[in-house]
Amino acid sequence: MKRLPIAILGSGKGSNCRAILERIRSGDIAAEARVVISDVLDAPILDIAREFSVANAYLSPGQFRTRLQFNAEEQLVEILRQAGAHLVVLAGFMRVLHAPVLEAFPRRIINIHPSLLPKFPGLEAWKQALAAGETVTGCTVHYIDDKIDHGQIIARREVAILPDDTPESLHARIQIAERELYPAVIGEFSEEYAASNR
Ligand code: GRF
Repeated sequence: MKRLPIAILGSGKGSNCRAILERIRSGDIAAEARVVISDVLDAPILDIAREFSVANAYLSPGQFRTRLQFNAEEQLVEILRQAGAHLVVLAGFMRVLHAPVLEAFPRRIINIHPSLLPKFPGLEAWKQALAAGETVTGCTVHYIDDKIDHGQIIARREVAILPDDTPESLHARIQIAERELYPAVIGEFSEEYAASNR
């Protein structure tokens, strides 16, 4: 079975990255992590890549706070191409991507967000859901476009909001759901890839 070559991009903790790499290692997902890339030099996600012996790279983001400088995006495309990535997995990557990357990987870049999109895009989505008095929230895997937490939805998982939930307790349960949903979606992409490369 031909394994799906993926790249993982993140800026922080890397718990989703770890969940994906564990499921690849255990053979549950027929994918192959070619590279982990971060815009933060000392991000734990890069340590996780090293722990799993996956190639990893720091990408210097340039002068902006919420996006990559144009030449950094071009550099990112180069790294992804050299790694042979077929699917680009955003896992806590805190910058919005633009034309160079989006055009190089059309419908091949996915993200996970901690709400039931289209509700509550943006930061601390679990706090937004609590403040809005929702009884259910969750997480969403979606294709990305050049707007924040926008783009075609691939899969969602619901998480109940309990009466005594704090932002922390709710966030923790959403993250558990994320670590199930994201590998499951990547598993489905892997099966489609294997089927079309038989
Ligand atoms: C996740 O909760 C995801 O929803 C959001 O960023 C967070 C990244 O967490 N996009 P981690 O780095 O995977 O632990």
